[in-house]
Amino acid sequence: MTVLFADVVHSMDIAAVVGAERLREIMTDLFKRSALIVERYGGTVDKFTGDGIMALFGAPVALEDHAARACRAALDIQAAVRVLAADVERRDGTSFQLRIGLNSGRVIAGEIGSGPLSYTAVGAQVGLAQRMESVAPAGGVMISDSTARLVDTIAMLGETELVHIKGASEPIPARRLLGMAIGRRSRRAETNFVGRQPEMGALRSALDASVRGDGRVVGVVGPAGIGKSRVVREITSLARSSAVEVFATYCESHTTDVPFYAISELLRAVLGAEGFEGAEARARVRQRLSHAEPEDLVLLDDLLDIADPAVTPPEIDPDARLGRLTAIATTALLGRATPTLYVIEDVHWIDGSSESMLAEFVSAVPEAQSLVLLAYRPEYDGILAHASRSQTIVLEPLDDSHMSTLSAELLGKDPSTGALADVVVKRAGGNPFFAEEIVRDFSERDVLIGGRGCYLCVDPVAEESVPSTLQAVIAARIDRLNPAAKRTLNAAAVIGSRFDDQTLTALGIDSALADLIRAELIDQTSFSPRSEYAFRHPLIRAVAYESQLKSDRAQLHRRLAGILEQSDQNAALIAEHLDAAGDLHVVYDWPRRA
Ligand SMILES: Nc1ncnc2c1ncn2[C@@H]1O[C@H](COP(=O)(O)OP(=O)(O)OP(=O)(O)O)[C@@H](O)[C@H]1O
Ligand SMILES: [Mg+2]
Repeated sequence: MTVLFADVVHSMDIAAVVGAERLREIMTDLFKRSALIVERYGGTVDKFTGDGIMALFGAPVALEDHAARACRAALDIQAAVRVLAADVERRDGTSFQLRIGLNSGRVIAGEIGSGPLSYTAVGAQVGLAQRMESVAPAGGVMISDSTARLVDTIAMLGETELVHIKGASEPIPARRLLGMAIGRRSRRAETNFVGRQPEMGALRSALDASVRGDGRVVGVVGPAGIGKSRVVREITSLARSSAVEVFATYCESHTTDVPFYAISELLRAVLGAEGFEGAEARARVRQRLSHAEPEDLVLLDDLLDIADPAVTPPEIDPDARLGRLTAIATTALLGRATPTLYVIEDVHWIDGSSESMLAEFVSAVPEAQSLVLLAYRPEYDGILAHASRSQTIVLEPLDDSHMSTLSAELLGKDPSTGALADVVVKRAGGNPFFAEEIVRDFSERDVLIGGRGCYLCVDPVAEESVPSTLQAVIAARIDRLNPAAKRTLNAAAVIGSRFDDQTLTALGIDSALADLIRAELIDQTSFSPRSEYAFRHPLIRAVAYESQLKSDRAQLHRRLAGILEQSDQNAALIAEHLDAAGDLHVVYDWPRRA
């Protein structure tokens, strides 16, 4: 369980300036916003203390990733406070800030019933959370050692500080929470960001402009592995730290023909329905779209895959339906009152209906407090690449000096690696992902021993021994896997860029996920409610997909279609797998969404 404790900085002073009544109004606003955020991450607000908030994650409902949820909630609350503070500053001329502290610990089973939590059951944990709060910087989040240990692979943390706390004789360790990994991949073991100053400058000014209400649409374009997602991640964390809310959606290579795939993920997030199902999800959508026509909402439920089985969707022709959905989606996306960053990743794989809906939205963005980032490879030439009043940033290969910095960081400082560093720079041709893969290849071939950033070169190699394309390096690395690991990777590639253990087991795969994580081909992205994994990079999945025997792959697709059918999944996705298996002629109950 993780306890979140938040408190307003110098609330007495604020009361003196604005008066008790106005302070109460501000606090009510703060409580409302915070309660929504806490709830969004599955926590419960335990109580509102005089000028603070206490919330619990992982109790009374057990949540394995309670610490991560609490961290995300804490950061979102601080972002919400920054918005609120701007308003207070303008109206009341006083500053308004919050400190937040987090602490994680065990709760003795049986002490927490279903009713309101008893303070005593969690007293000790609350005490430390409160102390963390007291040493947090204004506007910041401080977490205890026990919380830090649970999130250190997915959070950006400050150095461990020893803090002196009232009433304790010894100083205790604490760390600043600076940010959380976003999107699908964890931030684990990411190299320092090199170069890209002009591009980042352009993105920063687009972000600033959008915050001022001068909305922008920017395409980030370049070949696989050049750094589009990385640039997007850098600007995203900047946005988050300036209280800009971020919503992202990821297109996938196997969902290009799955209608509404990309837009539904984005809408679910924007409408606060992410992670919720059925009635609960529908209620959340209706709360956000209180002025929408009931019939449009039914269409939207269907798109979001949260339709009420008891309600028959209205009979209308596909064009009219798309038109109405576009209108409601645009309203939902533009209807946000605070600065927002929308990220559409891997647009080269977008499905047609999402593309046309997003095109409509994008054309209205210049009037909104929004920045839309579209990341895609140069082969994409669809309507989103030609949106009017949009700007395109082309990522060129990194220059040799930046590549040297990068390879030196990957290899480390030992003089024995000097010659290899040159090979990496030469072969990678300015592609940072290529550089990373070459180093991994060296390490697997035992040319290098040690670990990232601290290698020793024990067997100098000729440049010629490095495959000349990124694909070939990845193929060589996959080839080196043991049979069980290879089977797991192949099956995962058929499932998609994200996959879980259960689906692999259902496919009859005795999964060797640990080997794949060790080989840095995949990452674990979620631990609960079930274990989820993701390919490190889309190219790894592509190579794993392409390199397997067609007949084996067809069989996997066929079995997967069967599994998805049983769990009543998206019909278009099932059709997609049958198609890939060469089985689409099988009489099939054609998707309701076609
Ligand atoms: N400027 C940079 N400095 C350091 N590392 C970088 C930089 N740009 C990219 N990288 C690293 O290179 C790898 C590939 O980058 P990224 O995933 O952003 O490529 P991409 O352009 O999005 O590729 P794709 O089209 O396949 O999605 C990542 O591990 C990333 O962290
Ligand atoms: Mg990418």
